[in-house]
Amino acid sequence: MTAQAEAIRPWPLGLPLLQAIRRDPFGFVAQLRARYGDTVKLQVLSTSIHYLFRPEAARQVLVNHQDDFAKDPRALDIMQSVHGANVITTEGAVWERQRRMLAPAFAPKRIAACAALMAAAADECAGGELPATPGASSVIDVDGLTTRITMDVILRALFSCRYGPEEAASASAAIRALSRQLMREFFWPVRPVAGLPYPGRAEKARSLAVIHGLIRARIDARRRDMAGGADAGEDILGLMLAARDEQAGASHEALGDAEILDNCVGLFGAGHDTSATALTWWVGLMAMHPEIAARVRDEVADLPEEHAAAASQVVEARLLNATIKEAMRLYPPSAATFARRALRDVEIDGRMIAKGALVVVSIWNLHHDERWFPEPGAFRPERFLPGAPALPRSAFMPFGIGPHFCLGQQFATVEMALIAARLIRRHTFSLVDGAALPAPVVDLVLKPRERLQVRFTSLA
Ligand code: HEM
Repeated sequence: MTAQAEAIRPWPLGLPLLQAIRRDPFGFVAQLRARYGDTVKLQVLSTSIHYLFRPEAARQVLVNHQDDFAKDPRALDIMQSVHGANVITTEGAVWERQRRMLAPAFAPKRIAACAALMAAAADECAGGELPATPGASSVIDVDGLTTRITMDVILRALFSCRYGPEEAASASAAIRALSRQLMREFFWPVRPVAGLPYPGRAEKARSLAVIHGLIRARIDARRRDMAGGADAGEDILGLMLAARDEQAGASHEALGDAEILDNCVGLFGAGHDTSATALTWWVGLMAMHPEIAARVRDEVADLPEEHAAAASQVVEARLLNATIKEAMRLYPPSAATFARRALRDVEIDGRMIAKGALVVVSIWNLHHDERWFPEPGAFRPERFLPGAPALPRSAFMPFGIGPHFCLGQQFATVEMALIAARLIRRHTFSLVDGAALPAPVVDLVLKPRERLQVRFTSLA
């Protein structure tokens, strides 16, 4: 390993680094760690970028020194061009207020109440698409299936509605197009000048119009119902419309129209694409490991069909949840990175980080570190079962840590376990195209590069 004397800055101006990271985000970054150790400094244009690979260093940035760092304004700017200013894309007082006002919608008792709609979405989508007579089988595009199920879940949770197949397909295509465009823009060395054309602008505007159109229609319909005397409703939109900021003093300020639209857009995207991705890889891994799948099937066989009881018990199913965690370790849905900007000079893990520098923690590289996860590429759910060696804090963090940790963590945990249990209870899975899973690609979330095709065979 070479001690790093000065920042890595290939000619010209460090720009080749952007291409190298974009081409092979995990492999290239893993090579940097192998060569230079646990902290690596790069320089692109005038920005210093520090990669941190120790879980303890990640924790120092995201938790202990949370006031010394903020989300990168450039990344927020790019995200805001799609999401507007919501709880995912803001910082400081605006973010704090939105997080405070949205948090009650994700309280444990609300999530338990969502169990019925999660199970219903799984049963209805799967019922229409998967073979049901014993022994019958079909080849399924897994990500298509999991996306339809989790989109159905988030629509029911947000708006108490369902999309028809055409609406769902156009929403999905728009989300993929926007994710691709965001990834592209993250790697541009400079932001396009406002008002001037840039690659992808027209498709971005079309896709955004699709998502805004679908979501606005739901908000407008609810406002019309309320104008006719109906109450706001018990779903997330209803809670947002009724929310009042206790800290705003006597005014108890409500969320504005733009805040409601922007947060619906954010929760719609973040709330289904991530869970779908996790379930996609989980199905693929179960297909690759039929002996583990059979043990999971035995474990969930006795869970009650009734939804509320299923929700409380399904999160206790140890092997099932260990397989989901191990799937998220190998394929973290939010795989990209946590980039934070230093607000002042600060020392992290023995290295001085100057004000304005970017600090990057890569969840993928943390999750594939052989020091905490021996044979990091192997699927071993026992890493998350009782009796496994303890992990360093923050070595595993699919939902992030610190003040910005995932607002939907509990929601997603119950949702994934319920859907996974329902799928595996009624079907066996086998890979169609040989024994390997497709390579992963960062498409905002971590998607399979080629379609993951799995044969589902009905058991009952
Ligand atoms: C497997 C599923 C999921 C994974 C792996 C995941 C992962 C993450 C991660 C890593 C972050 C932190 C980003 C950062 O610190 O920069 C995050 C934030 C967030 N997630 Fe999730 N997420 C999942 C599901 C959900 C769901 C179901 C919802 C909502 C229904 C949701 C809503 C949010 C929101 C609103 C934030 C922003 C929190 C803030 O900045 O205060 N997520 N998620």
